[in-house]
Amino acid sequence: MQERILDFLKKKKDYVSGEEISSHLDISRQALWKHISELREAGYDIVAVPHLGYRLVSCPDRLFGFEVRRNLATRVIGKKVYYFDALTSTMDVAFKLGIEGSQEGTLVLAETQTKGKGRLGRHWFSPKYKGIYLSLILRPKILPNSAAILTLLSAVSICETVKAKTGLDAKIKWPNDILIQNKKVAGILTELNAQTDEIVFVVIGIGINVNNDRKSLVDNATSLKEHLKEGLNRIELLQEMLRRIEENYFLFKEQGGKSIADKWRAFNMTLGRMVSVVCRNEHIEGEAVEIDEDGGLLIRNSSGIIEKVMAGDIVHCR
Ligand code: BTN
Repeated sequence: MQERILDFLKKKKDYVSGEEISSHLDISRQALWKHISELREAGYDIVAVPHLGYRLVSCPDRLFGFEVRRNLATRVIGKKVYYFDALTSTMDVAFKLGIEGSQEGTLVLAETQTKGKGRLGRHWFSPKYKGIYLSLILRPKILPNSAAILTLLSAVSICETVKAKTGLDAKIKWPNDILIQNKKVAGILTELNAQTDEIVFVVIGIGINVNNDRKSLVDNATSLKEHLKEGLNRIELLQEMLRRIEENYFLFKEQGGKSIADKWRAFNMTLGRMVSVVCRNEHIEGEAVEIDEDGGLLIRNSSGIIEKVMAGDIVHCR
């Protein structure tokens, strides 16, 4: 009901009488008053003036599920949203939901994470109300060893979103780092629940530094705000990203991994460089020459032999 009251107030933009809202939504004046009080507690600034009615003055900077779903231009992604003010990690909740059978596209959002997870056991610093911290459940019918393409798909979607919403050029450092001017602005963590020959579900975790000031960033990190010199509307950014993820996911399902790898090349900063990758105790050095349709990186070593790596910690040497 609160969602419908907000919708009504947002559409009207001016004062609306309590009587009009109550009759439109078929609730009593008393119930309306109770919902308005709850909305105010959640941070919505709603003024009430005798004889004029209610007016929505401002909305809080929160990623509430109903705000994210409102006008969201997707068919699958984000149709079900779980929102938390604070969590250990959105990955844990999404993984549990995946096991319980939650539908494809289910989204878990948190305003802060006390145990935000990065790749390779690292910590993802998640200051409250500053960034976007999400986990998304997908159920693609692909082999487990092709799952890396979903990381690339997410990386492309983030870069496209950043370009569209801010004009900034974000680049992808294979496999999962998104950088602006060589500093990390976003990261992706992909976790699988799989059987030998099929994926049951994938959880894609995305963390983006949006409105962080320098003091809430580590040295080698940056935020969108740091470059724009002003804050961004996180809901609009998130909605655009979800729309792009869905668009790229449908493209992948229709045309396969090559379509994603082709898009990925335009944003990457890894191909053509000398790299050093540590992957399962193995150390591979050489020129990063190509990306394949599974999301693997092809490296030409000093003997001219091409080796493929699917994951790992990469250093750009030059
Ligand atoms: C990395 O770059 O190492 C990956 C970072 C992924 C961070 C996101 S924030 C939302 C989701 N929940 C987590 O605990 N981690 C991912």
